[in-house]
Amino acid sequence: MSLTRRQFLQQTAATATLSALPLTAQNQHPGSQPGTPAPGSLKSVSRNLPVGCCVAARILRTDAAYTALVKQQASILVAETEMKFGPLRPTPTTFFFDDADYLAHFAQSNNMLLRGHNFVWHRQLPSWFATYVTPANAQQVLVNHINTVAGRYKGRIHSWDVVNEAIQVSDNLPGGLRNSPWQKVLPGYIDIAFRTARRADPHALLTYNDYGIEAEDEASAKKRAAVLALVRGMQERNVPIDAVGIQSHLTAGPNHTYAAVPGQLAGGGEGPALAKFMADIQSLGLKIMLTEMDVNDRDLPADIPTRDRAVADLYASYLHTTLANPAVVALLTWGITDKYTWLNHEGARKDSLPERCLPFDADLKPTPAFFAELNALQGK
Ligand code: XIL
Repeated sequence: MSLTRRQFLQQTAATATLSALPLTAQNQHPGSQPGTPAPGSLKSVSRNLPVGCCVAARILRTDAAYTALVKQQASILVAETEMKFGPLRPTPTTFFFDDADYLAHFAQSNNMLLRGHNFVWHRQLPSWFATYVTPANAQQVLVNHINTVAGRYKGRIHSWDVVNEAIQVSDNLPGGLRNSPWQKVLPGYIDIAFRTARRADPHALLTYNDYGIEAEDEASAKKRAAVLALVRGMQERNVPIDAVGIQSHLTAGPNHTYAAVPGQLAGGGEGPALAKFMADIQSLGLKIMLTEMDVNDRDLPADIPTRDRAVADLYASYLHTTLANPAVVALLTWGITDKYTWLNHEGARKDSLPERCLPFDADLKPTPAFFAELNALQGK
């Protein structure tokens, strides 16, 4: 089975690379003034690593400049919401596939890979979940959901986030598990979900995806330990898992320390704890994906150059460390332009200024973070 998966990935990666336009053909950058040199394309410089972002069908349908930018920059996409349980499930007995199908078709027709996000999450569940799903029917609901959705997109998905954010150490459950709606009705849900997903789409890389594991602080250290124990336990029980997704929602500013260049951290010598965690994941034979990167600037002053510098510096140092690990098989930011970032709605700045957290600003112009990402992808 693993040979088939590898062949599939080699094949799809080759398709994505071949489809990348030469830089000279990409001078019509939507944010550029006429005559402005093209800033380059992330996917064009990233020959071996699929690179991209989350997208929304609603925006692809209506914003032509956004769509052009996505096509220019991305070789891998993920649905921001359209493949989550709630959006797919208007009622217990029906599925709504229009938006997810639109994205699957968009990715395929533009020779882009597509991540599946996600089968199980504690958020974006439909309102009927709380009353309809019980310990008696939960397994059947979960298995039916995964079989139907994974089956529909079988062979077209690079990787499925089978379970998203299952660890919440402060909930005080064994293993640091989150006391989520699924956990309450079906305590074995993680193993069931992965086993079902493998049968339903044997080609997709099955991924456990989480946030809050990136920083050099105590909370992240605890969460990293819990995630590592979770995936080790799955392997011991022969539960199929191929990859760990590190969401990479970061926050700039002096109160947050991430994967800095080794030697620059307090305690020195050993390098960032995130790099050690990634090496541990790699040594289990698992792949790693950076699945939802953005850099929140809410702790920084209003001044735009100051914010842009700090955000770009964090892109640079974080990617410098994480991309050094050869187990990394994809890099996605959570959006491509600040125009549509979720951070303006969740975790927004106190002064209500729009966030500058992504490679392109709200006018679709490249930010210093774009150049930091472009350089990091080229090993600069
Ligand atoms: C967010 C979307 O960006 C929002 O539009 C939605 O309202 C809530 O979810 N971690 C994840 C993503 O795994 O699915 C979340 O996406 C962001 C945090």
